[in-house]
Amino acid sequence: MNIPFGPRSAAGPTGVTTADATAALPSGVSSGTTPLLKLTEVVASYGAIQALRGVSLEVRHGEIVTMLGSNGAGKSTTLRTISGLMHPRSGRIELDGHDITEVPAHKLVRQGIGHAPEGRHIFNRLTVLENLQMGAYSRRDRSAVNADFDRVFGLFPRLRERRDQSAGTLSGGEQQMLAIGRALMARPKLLLLDEPSMGLSPVLVEQIFSIIRDINSQGTTILLVEQNAQMALQVASRGYILQTGQIVLADSAEALAGNEEVKKAYLGT
Ligand SMILES: Nc1ncnc2c1ncn2[C@@H]1O[C@H](COP(=O)(O)OP(=O)(O)OP(=O)(O)O)[C@@H](O)[C@H]1O
Ligand SMILES: [Mg+2]
Repeated sequence: MNIPFGPRSAAGPTGVTTADATAALPSGVSSGTTPLLKLTEVVASYGAIQALRGVSLEVRHGEIVTMLGSNGAGKSTTLRTISGLMHPRSGRIELDGHDITEVPAHKLVRQGIGHAPEGRHIFNRLTVLENLQMGAYSRRDRSAVNADFDRVFGLFPRLRERRDQSAGTLSGGEQQMLAIGRALMARPKLLLLDEPSMGLSPVLVEQIFSIIRDINSQGTTILLVEQNAQMALQVASRGYILQTGQIVLADSAEALAGNEEVKKAYLGT
């Protein structure tokens, strides 16, 4: 899909409209100078395929920020470069002001990045409980880990009921919950969610988004990748539109939801 978001010259040298991008921050969101996450001109590729062509974005402490884009736009690749599953060719990624561009994934888990990837990637043969334990493997604070089991089971009562069931036998929606729960078990400062609503029934979609709100109000900052733009723009304070590896628009969620091009391309209205 190729959507012209206005002439480039009018939107500055990178074609990105940033007006208002950090405006209207909700309460609890720090407007201080150091964002929790900052990407500067991140370029990433798979062999000869360039998936990200210079992505710059930031997520402030306490925010829910969404990244929207069509299939193949580079959303999952952006999350993978942030969580260290792959490294950029060039550009810089900072977590709370520290350069993490080359830090491997397992270390980033300890530094507070949780990633619930697309397609879930849970361990089918392990039970629900064992999957959650895997999420906490890097932690030594046993009593806090136990409190987090309670927190995850509080957010997802269905998982508590199914705690001894092997994960491969869960429904799609339950597996999605488990993937998010597992990421939460590492107590992330920043939670990366890759299409959490994918494949879920409308009722479960509502539930997942309400849980995303709860997770955020309990203090976790969230970068949410979604194709369900309607719901994502309702929970997020700001959003970025990614198109063929480039951010073409950045604005408050409210402004994006009212933007005619966004409506046509992503909201189906
Ligand atoms: N493992 C890979 N090897 C080669 N190319 C890849 C690989 N993973 C992704 N790509 C390519 O990189 C580009 C970005 O893919 P990415 O998965 O980040 O898109 P996306 O925005 O998450 O799409 P979707 O909405 O379909 O999940 C696409 O052109 C895709 O074909
Ligand atoms: Mg994807």
